[in-house]
Amino acid sequence: MQSIDETESRGATAGRGASNVVTRRGFVKVGAGLLGAGGVAAIGLGAVGIGGVSGAQDGATPGATPIGDVDVDGDGFIEPRVLTSADGFLAVKLEAAPDAAAGPSRVAYEQSIPGPTLRVKQGDQLNIALVNSLGGDDTNLHVHGMHVSPKDNSDNIFVHVANGQTFNYSYAIPADHPPGLYWYHPHSHGDSSQQVSGGLAGAILVEGALDDLPEIAALKDRLLVLQGPFLGPDHQVQYLVNGQINPEIPIRPGETQRWRILNASANAFFNLQLVRHPFHEIGTDGNPRPEAETKELLLLGPAERSEVLIQGGAPGIYELRSLSWAEDVPSQAQPQFVVATLVSGGEPVQAMALPTTLIDREDLSTSVVDVERTIVFQENSAAPVFAIDGKAFAMDRVDQTVNLGALEEWTLRNTSPEWHPFHIHVNDFQVMSRNGRPEPRTYEDTSRIPPNGELIIRTRFTDFDGKFVYHCHILGHEDAGMMGVVEVVDPNA
Ligand code: C2O
Ligand code: CU
Repeated sequence: MQSIDETESRGATAGRGASNVVTRRGFVKVGAGLLGAGGVAAIGLGAVGIGGVSGAQDGATPGATPIGDVDVDGDGFIEPRVLTSADGFLAVKLEAAPDAAAGPSRVAYEQSIPGPTLRVKQGDQLNIALVNSLGGDDTNLHVHGMHVSPKDNSDNIFVHVANGQTFNYSYAIPADHPPGLYWYHPHSHGDSSQQVSGGLAGAILVEGALDDLPEIAALKDRLLVLQGPFLGPDHQVQYLVNGQINPEIPIRPGETQRWRILNASANAFFNLQLVRHPFHEIGTDGNPRPEAETKELLLLGPAERSEVLIQGGAPGIYELRSLSWAEDVPSQAQPQFVVATLVSGGEPVQAMALPTTLIDREDLSTSVVDVERTIVFQENSAAPVFAIDGKAFAMDRVDQTVNLGALEEWTLRNTSPEWHPFHIHVNDFQVMSRNGRPEPRTYEDTSRIPPNGELIIRTRFTDFDGKFVYHCHILGHEDAGMMGVVEVVDPNA
């Protein structure tokens, strides 16, 4: 087994060009923490759903070659097949079914882990026929981060689709929808973690003004869907990028590429570092940033996305790795592992200036707040173990009633010793502070509440009335009850 340190030293010293690349092994060691069982805190991760793995899988090519995956740019990097809207409309079928070729516990949309990428424009109509061929449990579909109606057959997670049934979802994407990276995944309470960690996830790209900025429009546009942990044939832990273990990502010295990175894991964090290549972040959770920010580390909790620009360095091989994370939280601790390998080679190109000013948006920190709430995320020693404000999720109970159009400030308090990534449907929020420290001005739909800590957000409940949910996006926690219902009512209706 190739150790991480060995890869690291190759990364630092390896020679020149794309022809001289490391042999990928892709096996990474993960300590007991992530997959550990026992104790209250481990309940969520115990639901990761990767039991009973065996099968004839070659360690270098997990999931065989998913049907429809393509080399989008013709340079060897494999991405999910892209289904693109035309004349304002995209209609697709997503059949969820066991993926026996990938492994006994794997499940796929359209026989592909991850599922096909849906590429739409602001103002488009997106229709998805969800077919449940899982063979047992209910499923359904959530378009994570999308600002669309939560009612009827739009982003309504109260709908459950039984085995053998088809449900026709229809989403009217507003003409002013923020452009960026979104995703779809099952949201069937009680089964979410198992289905997402089995592989059910895919990306949605909404095109818009960010794509038209001259410094961005011309760039190679890559998608990296991060998933895992999966168990390989020898019970080794695997993290996948677009269904592959440690793929190579080619770049030319000086070339700038746009990477859209999605953490589609049900429960794992990715604490990303790309050796000697800073991340120039241009978008968070499907929202363009007002200003780009250069980061050495990119921490993505479950469901979080980041869009970054990467500029190819001197010819060589550079590891994209997830650094160790949450060492002080035994139930969530993850060791360092390899994610992918950047290979800089070929004809150098003149490095372009990176953009700084991007797309502005209302700064909620200077706006008048209509309502303040405090919402407490808890882990209890007696039921409900995973709770919000003392209660486990109940789909018929409304926990927060909000007026349409209101600007609210929510203080999200975590009284447990674990991280809980907070997510709310339909409307994005601006993070005011985490543990009292102000954050750069970004809009997000998922953000971490630190252990025994506090996250303060502001959000405006615009455009859509109806019922939807907020929850912890560690899906094992959500399935165990850490979810609440918000109802937006129109006071003038
Ligand atoms: Cu990505 Cu309510 O979830
Ligand atoms: Cu949680």
